[in-house]
Amino acid sequence: MKINPFRMERWQSTWENRVRFNLSESGVHPMTPTELLELAGTDSQALLSQRLVYNQSNGTEELRELVAAIYTGATIDNVLVSNGGSEANYVTTWSLIGPDDVVVMEVPNYMQVWGAAEAFAREVRPFHLDEKRGWAPDLEQLDEQVDADVKLIIVTNPNNPTGAILTEAEIDRIVAIAERAGAWIIADEIYAGAELDGRWSPSFWGRYDRLVITAGLSKAYGLPGLRIGWAVGPTEFIANLWSYKDYTSIAPGTLSDLCARIALDPDTRPKIYERTRGILNENLGPLEEWLSGRPDIFHYRAPRAGAICYARYQLEINSSALAQRLKDEQSVLIVPGDHFNMDGFMRIGYGVPRPELIEALDRVETVIKSVAG
Ligand SMILES: Cc1ncc(COP(=O)(O)O)c(C=O)c1O
Repeated sequence: MKINPFRMERWQSTWENRVRFNLSESGVHPMTPTELLELAGTDSQALLSQRLVYNQSNGTEELRELVAAIYTGATIDNVLVSNGGSEANYVTTWSLIGPDDVVVMEVPNYMQVWGAAEAFAREVRPFHLDEKRGWAPDLEQLDEQVDADVKLIIVTNPNNPTGAILTEAEIDRIVAIAERAGAWIIADEIYAGAELDGRWSPSFWGRYDRLVITAGLSKAYGLPGLRIGWAVGPTEFIANLWSYKDYTSIAPGTLSDLCARIALDPDTRPKIYERTRGILNENLGPLEEWLSGRPDIFHYRAPRAGAICYARYQLEINSSALAQRLKDEQSVLIVPGDHFNMDGFMRIGYGVPRPELIEALDRVETVIKSVAG
């Protein structure tokens, strides 16, 4: 099996801890363990005395129960805990796709699953979110792309990089198209809980039997370093998925499983969403002011979820070259549209502390002025 480079991941992981201003991240400013414990109103005793065993490799029962509580009607048998949402995506795609299968994926999107599907499947076909319609999905195109060879449809809702959210009607239509072909759906819902208006996005959960939700703590919870994610799906599917995970990373980290239980406690979870929403709402204003102050350069739709804004720019420079200059000259890291196969865009992460965001945008300005001449 040959894999193509996952360009965005390599770009971020190489530079995100070396630059002064990391605007490449799509989640809110991560918490420290102390902040998490304070939010949960607990001390560090449980953490410090936790024996560092191998946990059960699909996640502790307590954690799976807390994850199941997010999805109405789900039980622990519907849940597999993974090392990040990315592992959930990887094992799910791996388990569902064979070399004769065709995959249809919403684009733009987080390209991990695109790359994995390209490796596992015969063909990966796109269906687009339409910029002119506020990044609404082109469901006519989806309908055309889905034929009898299609085994899997992949969507991310809320979406990365656009921050757009599907309506209930759009979700139902996607499900109907999948049902017509007997295809599975992976709905990556890792940005659910990070809505600016605090209204939980409509979920695919409960609408279809060939459905896997992937998600985790990295975005809406500000806990990416725990590397806790999950897949939620039909019980037989999840039991089989566990066998795949045995071959990747065995168990989630013991301390991570414990911290995840603290974060997902029913009293703590809403406080974390509140923190996330606070950061998003505090920062989107300055970002929008900055972008809309340059109407000759930027066109964008305000994100409805996630700490990311996907802006089209009118400048005579390729997006990777622009990102490179921002990094080299100003120590600011953004994600170029090239990483979504869409030159002429930049994805700006706005989940960093507000003063940092403001200084970073000033620095972006300097480079933009120099490019614009
Ligand atoms: C849609 C989507 N899914 C999954 C991930 C990866 O999540 P994790 O860091 O939990 O592995 C990302 C990260 O950017 C993402 O945007």
